Amino acid sequence: MKFLISGGTGLIGSKLTSHLIDNGHSVNILSRKYRKSNNSRIEYFIWKPSERVIDKSSIKGVDVVINLAGSSVFSLWTKRNKKKILNSRIDSLSTLYQIIKREKNHNVSQVISASAIGIYPNSKTLKYDESFQSKEGLFLTHVVREWEKKVKEFNKLNISVTTLRIGLVLSKDGGILKKLIQINKLRISNVIDGGKQCQSWIHIDDLVNIFYHAVENKLEGIYNAVSPNPSTFLKLQELTSKLSHKSLLNFNIPKSLVIIPFKLIGILDFYYDVIASDKNVSANKIVKSGYHFNYPSLEKIK
Ligand SMILES: NC(=O)c1ccc[n+]([C@@H]2O[C@H](COP(=O)([O-])OP(=O)(O)OC[C@H]3O[C@@H](n4cnc5c(N)ncnc54)[C@H](OP(=O)(O)O)[C@@H]3O)[C@@H](O)[C@H]2O)c1
Repeated sequence: MKFLISGGTGLIGSKLTSHLIDNGHSVNILSRKYRKSNNSRIEYFIWKPSERVIDKSSIKGVDVVINLAGSSVFSLWTKRNKKKILNSRIDSLSTLYQIIKREKNHNVSQVISASAIGIYPNSKTLKYDESFQSKEGLFLTHVVREWEKKVKEFNKLNISVTTLRIGLVLSKDGGILKKLIQINKLRISNVIDGGKQCQSWIHIDDLVNIFYHAVENKLEGIYNAVSPNPSTFLKLQELTSKLSHKSLLNFNIPKSLVIIPFKLIGILDFYYDVIASDKNVSANKIVKSGYHFNYPSLEKIK
């Protein structure tokens, strides 16, 4: 099969590309920068989603489109950056939609898009499944709602749509785990209010396998992509200690203190959405679809 991956150069995209190549497929990657391939089954194409510019030949012979493009949420949430976080996702999907719509002889039968568990508001009591309808929520809830609305539009082109609400991705190559290992280099780990916040995570190998499972089983609709056993922030810190072979001194900071700088610079939503994220997300639907996790619990990660 031939895949087109937008944002295929990122943490998830590069691992997914290797997986697809190992399984005998070929991959076209859309990137905003010129890149050279050293594999005959990987081809890079330039696009500028903010200007709706895309190399038309990137869609030729493509069976499945995977959308992973989007500006990182790990930035200072100024007005400008917030606009970038939302617009980069909407523009990317609009650009993909236009190229497929214009190309009358396309082969695309499925679009799989990244989404995020950021759609669910923080809660100490709820366990979220895909049917949850959020009325409240902060910035990320709004972004993900708009993102998912845009993904659904591919249905108008008679294309099957799969949306994966991805949890905190654990990988030694990047993302939160690498950041925590770097931050903890001084052997002091900072946790807020005892680190009790619920973290719905997924190991990168499972996530990549879920993308592939969604293709092989033609999954349609929304699926949470999280492990069946969420953890706490403290447990995540313990994992970084295990992986870096360094014991950590946990330094507990009360929420009332951590929140002050975020309040002062006017990015309180960043504090609640990212720093103090606390949500228990269910993996039941993806498990029922037949997916078996390689890393169902943190203890399995070495
Ligand atoms: N990692 C996680 O924990 C996690 C959790 C939930 C959801 N997700 C979502 O999954 C997707 C992929 O995540 P990732 O961790 O692989 O992200 P990543 O490493 O930051 O990669 C994202 C890719 O998107 C492209 N990109 C960046 N800014 C862009 C912009 N302004 N316009 C268009 N494209 C842009 C980049 O490709 P080029 O520079 O080559 O153009 C980049 O390689 C993202 O949408 C992310 O929000 C990730």
